[in-house]
Amino acid sequence: MKGVVLAGGLGTRLYPLTLAVNKHLLPVGREPMIYNPIRKLVESGIDDILIVTSSQHMGDIVTLLGSGKDLACSLTYKVQDEAKGIADALRLAEGFAHNEKIVVILGDNVTTASIAPYVQAFQEQEKGARVLLKHVHDPSRYGVAALDERQILEIQEKPTLPKSNFAVIGYYMFDKRVFDIIRSIEPSARGEYEITSVNNTYIRDQELCYDILDGDWVDAGTFESLAYANEMFSGVSHD
Ligand code: G1P
Repeated sequence: MKGVVLAGGLGTRLYPLTLAVNKHLLPVGREPMIYNPIRKLVESGIDDILIVTSSQHMGDIVTLLGSGKDLACSLTYKVQDEAKGIADALRLAEGFAHNEKIVVILGDNVTTASIAPYVQAFQEQEKGARVLLKHVHDPSRYGVAALDERQILEIQEKPTLPKSNFAVIGYYMFDKRVFDIIRSIEPSARGEYEITSVNNTYIRDQELCYDILDGDWVDAGTFESLAYANEMFSGVSHD
C-alpha cells in the first residue's frame, strides 16, 4: 500500500499567513503541519509516499522534507499546476500508485489518534474504498455523510442543510479503480473535481466502508481550527 499527501490549494482562508508560505508548512505544535499526515502514514506501515503541491511551494516543501529519511519514509513529489480540487490533485498519483491500494491524507488534517487500525481494516477489505468520519458541531464546513445503521447513503459537499453531524474527514483509502472514477466525474458548481463525487461513486456501487475516528482531529485550514490544532499539540514532543 502507498501513501499520498495532498498539500496544494491556495489556503485563502488563512490569508495573509499563506500568501508567501504554504499552509501545510505553518507550525502545529513543534512541527510543520505536514509532518502530521506523513507521521500517520509511517505509523501505519506506509513509507512510500507521494506529496502533491503547487509549483509555487514545491521548493519550500522539498527543502523541508528532502528524501524523507528524517521521517523514516521515501518521498516522491508531483506538481499540481492549477488548484482544481482534491480529486484533480489525486489524479497525479496514478503512475505512482502503480495499481496498489492507496491511503490519501489531506495535508491540513491533523490528529493525535493513530489511523493504523483503519488502514489495517482497509488492507483486509477485498475492494472499494474506506473513509473516516468524525462527529462535528459545524458540519456545513465539510463533506457530510447521510447514514443509516449500516452504511453511508450519500455524501454532500458543504451542504447548507446537513443530514447529519458526521463529517467525512481528510483520510481516504482507495483501490486502484479510483483513477477511472476520477476520469468519470464532472467538476462541481464551484468548478472543482470533488473528492466527494469520487466517494459517491463508490457508494453507488456499494463499495464504500467507513470507520469513526477515535481521537482528536482537526482540519487546520482556518484561523480558529489552526489555533485548536496548536492546542491539541501543545507540549507534544517527538524527541
Ligand atoms: C475538504 C473536502 C471535504 C472534507 C474536508 C476535510 O474540504 O472537500 O469533503 O470534509 O476537506 O478536511 P476543504 O477543507 O478542502 O474545503
